[in-house]
Amino acid sequence: MNAHFPKRLGFLITVSTLLMLCLWFAPMLPARTTGADSAQIRLGRKVFMSRCAVCHKADGTGQSYLGPKANLHRRVVQKKPDAKLAAFIKKGYPPMPAWEGVLTPAQLRAVIRFLRTFKPAGGK
Ligand code: HEC
Repeated sequence: MNAHFPKRLGFLITVSTLLMLCLWFAPMLPARTTGADSAQIRLGRKVFMSRCAVCHKADGTGQSYLGPKANLHRRVVQKKPDAKLAAFIKKGYPPMPAWEGVLTPAQLRAVIRFLRTFKPAGGK
């Protein structure tokens, strides 16, 4: 029998207990966004859910009958700078309506901020 065994076992138990404690408390740590950031994302989510989700789906992947271009996770969309997306959203592109004058500038900024929470899909 290995004489070091109980000692190592104690060490292992300590390490795994610490690990489990970390995992347990990690979700309670504040997110890395500032308060202002998350308020903007919350506003953006609200705008998105009421104005855009009907076509882009709540998760941003897009209704399938609109074709793959309504998927806002696409790399080509996520790679575009905010100004480009803002211009597109303001102008619309049939069947997508123009949002200029419907969304306030703050709502437009917020919805773009929210779009950035969609993870870019690989590939296209
Ligand atoms: C009536 C359906 C509809 C609604 C409502 C709608 N969209 Fe779209 N949207 C589309 C379709 C369809 C496309 C793909 C257009 C194309 O063929 O390039 C699109 C494309 C986009 C793109 C991609 C632009 C690019 O560079 O490819 C963005 C960003 C976008 N929409 C944002 C929004 C936002 C933000 C809202 C809400 C304020 C919204 N859309 C509401 C249908 C819609």
